[in-house]
Amino acid sequence: MGDTNLDSTGEPAGNALTDQMKDASIKGEEEDIVNPWNVQSTSATGVDYDKLIKRFGSSKIDDLLLQRIEKVIRKPIHHMLKRGIFFSHRDMHHILDLVEQGKPFFLYTGRGPSSDAMHLGHLLPFIITKWLQDAFDVPAVIQLTDDEKFLWKDLKLEQVHQLSYENAKDIIACGLDINKTFIFSNLDYIGSSREFYANMKRIEKCVTFNQVKGIFGFGDSDCIGKISFPAIQAAPCFSNSFPHIFGSRTDIPALIPCGIDQDPYFRMTRDVAPRINYQKPALLHSIFFPALQGAQTKMSSSDPNSSIFLTDTPKQIKTKINKHAFSGGQSTVEEHRALGGNCDIDIAYQYLRYFMADDLRLEEIRKQYSSGEMLTGELKKILVDTIQPIIANHQTKRTQLDKETVMSFMTPRPLKFRF
Ligand code: TRP
Repeated sequence: MGDTNLDSTGEPAGNALTDQMKDASIKGEEEDIVNPWNVQSTSATGVDYDKLIKRFGSSKIDDLLLQRIEKVIRKPIHHMLKRGIFFSHRDMHHILDLVEQGKPFFLYTGRGPSSDAMHLGHLLPFIITKWLQDAFDVPAVIQLTDDEKFLWKDLKLEQVHQLSYENAKDIIACGLDINKTFIFSNLDYIGSSREFYANMKRIEKCVTFNQVKGIFGFGDSDCIGKISFPAIQAAPCFSNSFPHIFGSRTDIPALIPCGIDQDPYFRMTRDVAPRINYQKPALLHSIFFPALQGAQTKMSSSDPNSSIFLTDTPKQIKTKINKHAFSGGQSTVEEHRALGGNCDIDIAYQYLRYFMADDLRLEEIRKQYSSGEMLTGELKKILVDTIQPIIANHQTKRTQLDKETVMSFMTPRPLKFRF
């Protein structure tokens, strides 16, 4: 099973169903829906990620890989990697091979700026990118796809462009290093970079309408902007799209931390890369951040109670968690003491897995809650006490950012690396 839905002979693949997907639909099994625009699961524990690894043809992030990363960086691994929040990868071993040989790679991630209401889940790729940037001492490029949101949402170009700047502040507040990071708005950068545009054309020439229909489900009545957009998300995978950072080198691969829903873009990119003599990007995939109401429901920027936003006050955080966080506890104290809580579906516990770095404390909480010794109210209080300072700290960092700093991050310039 290859890792792509494209037919490398150049024949249209027709549709994106892998053999496993076809098998499953023949057997009538319930399939989770996972693509850049839609994520749906029928189970209370959310999407079945092991099945997704098989379907997408990626690899599980296993203990062996985690140990190898620790050995290479000589630092303890980030808790989101250790706890399976980043659970799947493509070619991470290859990236580690390169590091061991003293060869470079760079980080690439992004965000579609459709709203200034960013929530906790939106930060995950940037938190891990910052950590990887520190651990490996490598450049990071961050794409703000204002053009994408213009095409997909009912927003004006001026609005999405402005949102790029607003979102860039939240991204910078995650602690990315100004000497190692380039953040760009597509509307700004693509118009100014011959090299980026040239790579878009190279990619576009390799992918047929049939193939993007198969991979992304585009139809005859989708506007042509959508149909060619995948080349724009693919282009930053190639180092020579950023001549101010990498010069004309094409041999430096990207490592992309992203939600698994973005994988279709990069399956396409990995198929195209060798055909235009470029490096395939490597990937680290994360699971989906659950809504407060539970892993089965969808988080939405328009429902303020579905998640914790970066603009929430301490009081809002407390009220939301207490009122809306789905509980895996029992309905009465007596029952809870007797039966214990279910951490797998309990959102307060699940959020702690993302944001409580201390392993021992988290394990202690898990034991106490599942044995019934700890009640839901107590668990929620721990979450409130964990999240409030994280959000407050984020807000302080964001307000301290001046315009010049944001503009520097967003200016095409050499970074501290020489290639
Ligand atoms: N399409 C992504 C979104 O809507 C944004 C994005 C662009 C991205 N490039 C990326 C996400 C690279 C992850 C990795 O959010």
